[in-house]
Amino acid sequence: MPAIKFYDHEPIPMEMHKVKIVQQLNLLPTAERLERMKDAGFNTFQLHNGDIFMDMLTDSGVNAMSDKQLAGMMTPDDAYAGSESFYRMRDKLEDIFGFKYCLPAHQGRACENILAERFVKPGMCVIMNYHFTTTKAHITRLGGHVEELVKDEGLQPQNDLPFKGDIDLDKLEACIEKEGAENVAFMRLESGTNLIGGQPVSVQNFKDACAIARKHGIISVLDASLLQDNLYFNKVREEDCKDMTIREITREIADQFDIIYFSARKFGFARGGAILVRDEALFHSMEDLIPMFEGFLTYGGMSVREMEAMTVGFDESMEMDIISQGPQFIDYCVKQLDAYGVPMITPGGGLGAHVNASEFVSHIPQQEYPSGALVCAFYICGGIRGMERGTLSEERNPDGSERFASMELVRLALPRRVFTLSQVEYVIDRVSGYMITDI
Ligand code: F0G
Repeated sequence: MPAIKFYDHEPIPMEMHKVKIVQQLNLLPTAERLERMKDAGFNTFQLHNGDIFMDMLTDSGVNAMSDKQLAGMMTPDDAYAGSESFYRMRDKLEDIFGFKYCLPAHQGRACENILAERFVKPGMCVIMNYHFTTTKAHITRLGGHVEELVKDEGLQPQNDLPFKGDIDLDKLEACIEKEGAENVAFMRLESGTNLIGGQPVSVQNFKDACAIARKHGIISVLDASLLQDNLYFNKVREEDCKDMTIREITREIADQFDIIYFSARKFGFARGGAILVRDEALFHSMEDLIPMFEGFLTYGGMSVREMEAMTVGFDESMEMDIISQGPQFIDYCVKQLDAYGVPMITPGGGLGAHVNASEFVSHIPQQEYPSGALVCAFYICGGIRGMERGTLSEERNPDGSERFASMELVRLALPRRVFTLSQVEYVIDRVSGYMITDI
């Protein structure tokens, strides 16, 4: 995004696209929103989209497509086996990441299922910087366990660390020592840690962590679902990346890993997923699982139209002008809310602005779900639907008891290219209203 100067005020984030198709929104009166929230059992997932003004639940599968993506969707090659759409997608991914082998899957968690089925045996450990809900569920379902080794600072709600998603290298060495390398199914690094505020990982940390894994013969896996935001932060926050292109940074990261997978509901502005494998034998060892769980090896549960949209979307994810819109809008939102005294996760990360519910509603004890309560309040007071990212989103313990989340957050996601700055201003007004009025 070019640094556009303004004559009489500080720069504001700019949309580097124009809107060509619109969807009408509906802002219900407050009393009706209260009724809708009650009908939904105080669960924002149960709300109907038509009753929502600002849907900030997720950035997954709801990003705006470009004219070029739509054009690509008009010329797919429909075939059960051997679709040219698949080969175009595979070649584009090889061009970007340098991995020869591609296993298609219908979305990110489907890739996680395949990886878990292939590598996780009862008692094994999967090392991560931080877990994502679906990833962990597949691993524990198969009798494995997850070790989360993000640096301690990553879990502090507020500080000015540029890469709060970095894994702690000392903890990594110690964990391998404790578990035994042969008992580690793989190490998975999430590029842009979803559950702790979309916080990015530095290229240096990817390099250091993968070098340790390599030394111990442990397979390294990159979850690239949130990679496009991460790349933006590498470029603007990491000295060594300042003069690199987004493609060069992508290749530098990819070069560290054995396997990359992603949800194309995020990466690629479409809906789908894929697992990329560097080694031929490793690829063949997973091949059988795709027809069993997803679909034939050249569609993996995706429509050919979506694969065409993804192929164009991957190229768009390599454009700084395109990938900066999300993080810049989020940064604006976080800074404004912070200035009003709303406790935010800082610095702003990718995928959305994150409110620290533990502090915002500090009178609600954790066993009464502070994030769950606050997310409902945002809908009632503004027609804004966020997502609970706290204890409610955690897996229960095997005995059914509560596992308290390390952070209680409300995520206000900013789907890419969807909202305008005036809509973001509206959200800032409604969320901060509580701080500046007596109501
Ligand atoms: N990995 C990460 C980092 C994710 O954020 C997600 C999904 C997945 C994997 C799973 O991909 O949804 O295509 O099956 N995150 C969504 C969200 C659900 O709202 O944050 P999926």
